[in-house]
Amino acid sequence: MHKVVLVTGANSGIGLALCERLLSQNSQVQLCLACRNMQRAEAARSALLASHSDAQIELLRLDVGSLRSVLKAAEEIKQRYNRLDYLYLNAGIMPNPQVDFKALFKGLFSSNVIHMFATAEGLLTQQDRVNADGLQEVFATNLFGHFLLVRELEPVLCQPEHTTQLIWTSSSNARRSAFSLEDIQHHKGVEPYSSSKYASDLLSLALNRHHNSQGLFSSVICPGLVMTNLTYGILPSFFWTLIMPVMWLIRVFTNTFTLTPYNGAEALSWLFLQRPESLDPRAKYHSLTSGLGNNYTQPRKMDLDEDMSEALYEQLLQLESKVRKKMKEEEEDLRAHKEYLDQTE
Ligand SMILES: NC(=O)c1ccc[n+]([C@@H]2O[C@H](COP(=O)([O-])OP(=O)(O)OC[C@H]3O[C@@H](n4cnc5c(N)ncnc54)[C@H](OP(=O)(O)O)[C@@H]3O)[C@@H](O)[C@H]2O)c1
Repeated sequence: MHKVVLVTGANSGIGLALCERLLSQNSQVQLCLACRNMQRAEAARSALLASHSDAQIELLRLDVGSLRSVLKAAEEIKQRYNRLDYLYLNAGIMPNPQVDFKALFKGLFSSNVIHMFATAEGLLTQQDRVNADGLQEVFATNLFGHFLLVRELEPVLCQPEHTTQLIWTSSSNARRSAFSLEDIQHHKGVEPYSSSKYASDLLSLALNRHHNSQGLFSSVICPGLVMTNLTYGILPSFFWTLIMPVMWLIRVFTNTFTLTPYNGAEALSWLFLQRPESLDPRAKYHSLTSGLGNNYTQPRKMDLDEDMSEALYEQLLQLESKVRKKMKEEEEDLRAHKEYLDQTE
């Protein structure tokens, strides 16, 4: 039977490389590219069709950073598909990253250099902002939009006699120290990306606890350090090109410098082949590349706490009902305003 696979943020980088890999390994895949920009989505579909002319590839407009777009997309998914086999929650942003150049140059000549590049720990801060829904943008995009999508799709994702895999593109930059249950949106901090990725690790654990019995399984991966639009936003591409020989050299000593989107998508495509029941909910599956360029996937235990994951889950549910109530009120106000205008015309 063909597999129905939906990928968010599928038009570039790791998401697009994943789609390419899935089509190469399984011609029966029915792909849905869920993207916020339909021109870029169309270009991605054309690129995929160039190498897989018979592929079944559909497009869906989805801006995970907009609540209304998520709800609309979820409705569309429910109409189009009676089941999803894989939902890759891959779209992500790291806006306005600021590099601590002092720490970078100090780190370049320290024994910590590999860890520093692999995790960006101590190197990066970001300037977050409030989006049109009144939520912190990084939290809304990397976590909450995906959470709402999963909640809306529960009838499609949780079906008797069927398993569905949720697969989050997390990061090794996900750090407990950047996350706080008192500030899940990271209003007050300067590491919203790290906080949102740690929150996705916690949420994945909670989703397993709540939904495994209904056939829904959740996993997280880290793609390693990959050259994509996201990394080109951190440092200009000429800088990455300049240090590329060093990075290739470092790869001899470490395996987290996957560097290409194809390599970065290793764990995502490996998970596609696994029985979800056999996966460890407390492990992050890392895409790794050896010095000789061989790709493989390795699970590594995450620094997670069950109580913390449950507390986050509860807070997300509360936030969900709050934003739903607000949207309903706004719609009622709009309807009342329209009625008023109709009467006064
Ligand atoms: N590159 C790395 O080294 C690295 C390391 C660890 C984790 N990651 C994670 O890997 C994932 C993929 O990133 P990437 O490195 O492949 O970067 P990328 O090329 O910038 O891809 C990000 C994708 O997410 C999409 N996206 C962003 N905001 C969105 C929104 N509001 N709604 C829908 N789609 C949205 C982008 O669409 P547009 O083209 O329209 O912007 C793009 O397709 C992200 O979650 C990132 O955090 C990357």
